[in-house]
Amino acid sequence: MSNHNWKQYFDKKAEVHGASVKSSDYFNEKSFFMQRENTLRFLGPCKGKVILDAGCGVGAFSEPLVEHNIVYGVDFSEKSLEFAAARGLKTMPGDLTALTFEDGKFDVVVCNGVIQLIDQYEDVIKELARVTKRGGTLLVETLNRNSLQRKLLKLFEKDKKFDRMFEMNELQSVFKKYGFEHIEFLHIYHPFHFVTQGTGQGALANQFSTSFAIKGSKAK
Ligand SMILES: C[S@@+](CC[C@H](N)C(=O)[O-])C[C@H]1O[C@@H](n2cnc3c(N)ncnc32)[C@H](O)[C@@H]1O
Repeated sequence: MSNHNWKQYFDKKAEVHGASVKSSDYFNEKSFFMQRENTLRFLGPCKGKVILDAGCGVGAFSEPLVEHNIVYGVDFSEKSLEFAAARGLKTMPGDLTALTFEDGKFDVVVCNGVIQLIDQYEDVIKELARVTKRGGTLLVETLNRNSLQRKLLKLFEKDKKFDRMFEMNELQSVFKKYGFEHIEFLHIYHPFHFVTQGTGQGALANQFSTSFAIKGSKAK
């Protein structure tokens, strides 16, 4: 599917499901909240920061950050943004391959469940790196290509949502290319409430984690 179709797809989802995490295609609320809780813990404490939620959808992922930070949300689904705005995000319609923010605007940039939908995903990481301040943090969460469970699901899925998946090493190289260091991973095992953390992909994480988050600090 092209990026243009994904815009229509998520506009339609938001029209049908409103503020629910179903608008962002999560399997169910339980699975979403487990992933959000663990990923935000992995991100670390955030207070008084300027944060970008890139591909924020209806804003459910970064909602807990709104109380103590200024959270911007960018997405090309304008229907989804209506719900993100109601959750307190400062929303802006836009495409992640070409952001309009100035260099180094954000202390923290999060991009949860998005890059697997974007052909030019490396352009997105480059843009996210550009708008991250030196010493700031970029966190990206996506699907593990080597997961046995994903390989099985891919056989049955219709929407081509699993066409693009990632190896942890591959994203680590892209993070390094765009100036990130101190790179760490969170390995997420859906639908189990189980995560592991480390600086790379061990054999267990490589084959069995269904998703992973990668974070790094932009070199000073
Ligand atoms: C699976 S949803 C995830 C939403 C949110 N990050 C979350 O975790 O709840 C993916 C979101 O990425 C947005 N998206 C996909 N490609 C995009 C692009 N090129 N530019 C802006 N938004 C995009 C979609 O509109 C959708 O809202």
